Amino acid sequence: MKQPGRMENLVAVVTGGGSGFGEAICHAYAAEGARIVVADFNPEAGERVTQALRAAGREARFCRVDVSVSADMAALAQAAVAAFGRIDVWVNNAGMSHPNRPMLEVTEEFFDRLYQVNVKSLYLAAVHCVPVFRRQKGGCFINIGSTAAVRPRPGLSWYNGSKGAVVLITKSLAVELGPENIRVNAINPAIADTPLLTTFMGAPDTPENRARFLASIPLGRLCTPADVANAAVFLAAPASNFITGVCLEVDGGRCV
Ligand SMILES: NC(=O)c1ccc[n+]([C@@H]2O[C@H](COP(=O)([O-])OP(=O)(O)OC[C@H]3O[C@@H](n4cnc5c(N)ncnc54)[C@H](O)[C@@H]3O)[C@@H](O)[C@H]2O)c1
Repeated sequence: MKQPGRMENLVAVVTGGGSGFGEAICHAYAAEGARIVVADFNPEAGERVTQALRAAGREARFCRVDVSVSADMAALAQAAVAAFGRIDVWVNNAGMSHPNRPMLEVTEEFFDRLYQVNVKSLYLAAVHCVPVFRRQKGGCFINIGSTAAVRPRPGLSWYNGSKGAVVLITKSLAVELGPENIRVNAINPAIADTPLLTTFMGAPDTPENRARFLASIPLGRLCTPADVANAAVFLAAPASNFITGVCLEVDGGRCV
């Protein structure tokens, strides 16, 4: 007999679900029985993931969203509730970085956009999803931070700061929302082989450039989307229902 999934009947919203970590989280959640709202800025990417989930026999919807726009985030929460009746898990995964470069070479315009996408999105998710969680008397957020928040690398100062905000907002919301049975956790991945890799490196993806990054990861490899998705299942599933305010490094020992 087939074992029930660890997220059977849960409804999950995953921002940035069209690529990289978000795509892997969508597939891992669906494989554990969850119904998925794939939210992404890029409609081709989001639709591709949604179709793949449906082709695998899962329930999934796509919602185009810019996570920095309040009306889009409101529409996302409404679309999830309209499609599936509730929201159990909201993953704030969509994010961006400036290319690795000296801190004074990042323009003010880029800085503003970075903090809108990486930080304001958490505020907007709270504004539009906490009321849903309150009605249901529970729910959980999972925020994708970064080892950048704990062991900052040079050349990524403003990105590092945005992920520092993700970590502290995670802990702050966890203590404020805990009494309402709303859990808030984060995952801090090490550098991974997703489209963001060359942005973080600020250089072409050559074996020599990779070696510089690998040298600081005791387990000796890059993070994978599956590593992050496995942690995201753990933090979303009922088995972790006494865990909140945790910022879990998925980093091969990078932050030790
Ligand atoms: N890749 C890494 O090495 C790494 C390491 C640590 C943390 N992270 C974090 O993990 C998260 C996901 O990164 P990834 O590597 O999977 O990236 P990715 O570029 O592969 O995917 C990001 C997805 O988010 C979407 N997106 C970007 N801006 C958006 C917006 N404003 N609104 C809605 N969707 C938007 C993109 O269309 C894309 O589908 C980010 O928060 C990133 O900062 C990445």
